Amino acid sequence: MKSAYGLKIPEPDGELTRVGAGTPCGELLRRYWQPVCLSADLQDLPKLVKIFGEELIAFRDGAGRAGLMFFRCSHRGASLEYGRVEERGLRCCYHGWLYDVEGNVLEMPLEPAPNPFLKQIQHPAYPVREFGGLVFAYMGPLELMPEFPLYDVWQVPGGTLKARMGPRIGGPVNCNWLQAEENLMDALHTFWLHTLHSGPQFPSRAYGANPDELKYEETALGMRFILTRKLASGKWWELIWEMIMPLNVHLVYTDEPKSERVRAVTYCVPVDDTHQLGASVRWLADNESETLSGREQLAPGGRKDRSFEYTQRHPDDKEAVEGQGPIALHGLEHLVSSDQGVMLFRKILRTAIHEVRQGRDPKGIFRDAALARHVLTTAGSLVRD
Ligand code: FES
Ligand SMILES: [Fe+2]
Repeated sequence: MKSAYGLKIPEPDGELTRVGAGTPCGELLRRYWQPVCLSADLQDLPKLVKIFGEELIAFRDGAGRAGLMFFRCSHRGASLEYGRVEERGLRCCYHGWLYDVEGNVLEMPLEPAPNPFLKQIQHPAYPVREFGGLVFAYMGPLELMPEFPLYDVWQVPGGTLKARMGPRIGGPVNCNWLQAEENLMDALHTFWLHTLHSGPQFPSRAYGANPDELKYEETALGMRFILTRKLASGKWWELIWEMIMPLNVHLVYTDEPKSERVRAVTYCVPVDDTHQLGASVRWLADNESETLSGREQLAPGGRKDRSFEYTQRHPDDKEAVEGQGPIALHGLEHLVSSDQGVMLFRKILRTAIHEVRQGRDPKGIFRDAALARHVLTTAGSLVRD
C-alpha cells in the first residue's frame, strides 16, 4: 500500500491554466476574438461583463455602436455599471463624464470649458465587433489584431443565426476552462461516464460502444477526433468533433447517427481562472425553430434541476469535470494511452503559448481577410456503407 500520508499536492500548471493579463495562456487567449455578451444584452442599461479576470462595461450608443471598456471611470473610479447610456456614449453617474465607444472623453460637465483634458484622457477600451447575435472583443495588443474568422457552417444559404450565452447546463461552470475543453478531446469518456456509469446521457446507443477506430489529429485550425463505429444496421458511422484555436472554440455533434454537419460554433468563455460560460452561434434553417440538441432533448430541464444524490448516482460532465477541482492538478495525473487526445490538446496549446512568447503569430490567427471570410470546418456525423 502507498500511504496517502504525506501526499504532496502540486501547484496547477500555471502556463496552461491561468487566464489573467500577463499570464502565458492569458496572453494567448487575448490574441483571438472572444465573445463577451449577447448583442441583445445591450439595451438601455450598461452591462458589466467579466472575462479573463477583467471587469469590463459593455454598452451600445444611440447610433447602434457597441463599446467595451474598463469598468471604472477614468475620473475617480466610479463603476460605469451605474452610468447612463446616451446618444453619443456612456455617461458616468458620479460627475457626468461622457465616453464614446472608443473611450474618448466627450464631456466633463462640471469643468469650465474649454478643457484641455478632454483631448488628453483616453479611457481604456477594447475593439468589438458583433456577429450572429454575439458581441466579440479583441483584448490583445492593438497592432496584432487579427481578422475575424467567419466559419463555413454559418454561411449556408437560406438560414438565420441564433446566439446563446450563459452557464452550460449539466456542463462545467465552476472550474478552470482547460479541463472543460480538453474533456471534449477525451472521446472515450462518452463510452464510460455518459453510458455505462450514469446510464445513457446521449440520444443514441452508438455513443456507448467502444469505437472500431478513434484517431486524434492536429489540424490547421486546431485539432479534431475522428471516431468510426459499425452501427447495428451494418453501416459505418463516422463522428468528427473539432477544436479551433485557441482551443476554447469547438464544434461537436451529439445527435443520432445520420449524415449532417455540425451547425453551431461554441465558445468556452473563461470568466476567471475558476469559472466559465458557454456561448454559441448556431445556424438555423428558415422557419426552423431552435431545437435542443439531441443530448439536451434527452433530459430537457433534467440536466438543470438535479439533486445531489441524483448527481452522485448519475454524474454528468459537470460532476466529472468540476470534480477535478477548481483547477485540475496535472501533477497528480497518470496519463495513459486513452488520454492521447488530452495530451495532444495540451501540446498544441503549449506550442501556441511559446509562439506568442517568441513574438510570432500562434496557430489559427488569420491575417488574410479573404481567407477569414470563409473558414472551412469538418465537424459532423456521416453514415456510410
Ligand atoms: S468618477 Fe466618473 S465622472 Fe467622476
Ligand atoms: Fe462528456
